[in-house]
Amino acid sequence: MHNDIERVLITEADIAAKCKELGSQLTKEYDGRFPLAVGVLKGALPFMSDVLRHIHTHLEMDFMDVSSYGNGMRSSGEVKIVKDLDTKVEGRDLLIVEDIIDSGLTLKYLVDLFKYRQANSIKIVTMLDKPTGRTSHIKADMMGFEVPNEFVVGYGLDYQESYRNLPYIGVLKPEIYGGDKA
Ligand code: XMP
Ligand code: MG
Repeated sequence: MHNDIERVLITEADIAAKCKELGSQLTKEYDGRFPLAVGVLKGALPFMSDVLRHIHTHLEMDFMDVSSYGNGMRSSGEVKIVKDLDTKVEGRDLLIVEDIIDSGLTLKYLVDLFKYRQANSIKIVTMLDKPTGRTSHIKADMMGFEVPNEFVVGYGLDYQESYRNLPYIGVLKPEIYGGDKA
């Protein structure tokens, strides 16, 4: 275990098993269709890569980079497009792939944007859900694990851009972030 991690919440093996399970559900969901999987950078990258390899139907992938967080641990409440999709959304079946839903502000913004762009359907798959943090009405169609109201890192999730490469999801030692709470 990395020295900065206080405890592991979700192991590498749990993540692998969950990606397989979600992938087979998504294979059934999108069988015979050509969905556009939209990864939300940067956090969703490992999850997207793992889960999509378990979807056995044709699909297209694209990425969007939006930020509602600065370098810290609290939402600024403001969503900004850092990188938009290259693909036309109109008439497409979208599968939004997220790392974590906390306040829900990021996804609310994306869902509204894709509705405005006239997507045919919009579904959300998220690795983690932190339901206690929710301030907007958004629910994932599929979810990996529920996490408590603690700041988590690893498997795409960062603290000041570090720890994204950890193969598991864990909680940082308080001294690393100065004892501030998520
Ligand atoms: P909202 O609040 O818009 O947040 O649902 C979504 C984005 O916020 C980041 N986030 C976290 N990042 N540990 C992280 O490393 C966390 O515990 C955490 N909670 C929210 C994340 O980028 C997510 O996409
Ligand atoms: Mg994110």
